[in-house]
Amino acid sequence: MLRPAASNPATSPELTEALQASVKQKRTQVIALLNEAIQAFGNQHEITFANSMGAEDMVLTDIIQRENLAIEIFSLDTGRLPVETYDLIAETERTYNTKLKLFFPQAEPVENYVRANGINAFYESIELRKACCFMRKVEPLQRALKGKKAWVTGMRAEQSTTRVDLPFRQFDEGNKLEKFNPLSNWTEKEVWAYIRMFNVPYNKLHDQFYPSIGCAPCTRAIAMGEDVRAGRWWWEDPLNKECGLHVKK
Ligand code: ADX
Ligand code: SF4
Repeated sequence: MLRPAASNPATSPELTEALQASVKQKRTQVIALLNEAIQAFGNQHEITFANSMGAEDMVLTDIIQRENLAIEIFSLDTGRLPVETYDLIAETERTYNTKLKLFFPQAEPVENYVRANGINAFYESIELRKACCFMRKVEPLQRALKGKKAWVTGMRAEQSTTRVDLPFRQFDEGNKLEKFNPLSNWTEKEVWAYIRMFNVPYNKLHDQFYPSIGCAPCTRAIAMGEDVRAGRWWWEDPLNKECGLHVKK
């Protein structure tokens, strides 16, 4: 799909001295928390980072790669990601000279769902949307977390009404392992300052007013002043907008 060029000022904040200093200080905090996770949960096969390729996750990818931290990185390829996300996966592999571990949905449930309900059935009801998220994201996540003792996410408290009390570290009851959210206290401005200061690759859709990017059919650009997750499942109630990866039990 051809998308118009646009320039989102939020992706290029002015790099004032105060902003750069706060990014550097928070970067040090992130490294300390990730080292705490490594100390507590052992070698690289036991801690894994869920990388959606969004701006926050690119900050964490950069820190893990630059600091050579013993944390595995994986991504869930739902099969419905925007082309810009696939381009970023390839660019990230080139930049850090690494291969990302991708998990795909199982073919049979997807084929059955699409035959029974249609290719874009997620727009029709919350149940069908959640069933799609389950087979394309949640079940592959369960496989990605199998045998792990801890996982790392790029979630921030500011992102949504469902995340306001997000701690740096918590026990994930749903998946039964420790969960680390090292960017919990970062602002959107700090995330973008980091990306500019360290020249981190990022999804070009962010420049076109897509602050939060998931699957292509379930993500739209936002208007000035809208909430950063307003473009995700925009037809649903904001209080329920989680796909099942991060449910609170
Ligand atoms: S979602 O629940 O609405 O999809 P969001 O896009 O905000 O989540 O991402 C929150 C965190 O969930 C990311 O920082 C990342 O750790 C994890 N995550 C989300 N989507 C994926 C994905 N496709 N692959 C790997 N991790 C993901
Ligand atoms: Fe399906 Fe949309 Fe969920 Fe992606 S975000 S898994 S396309 S319902």
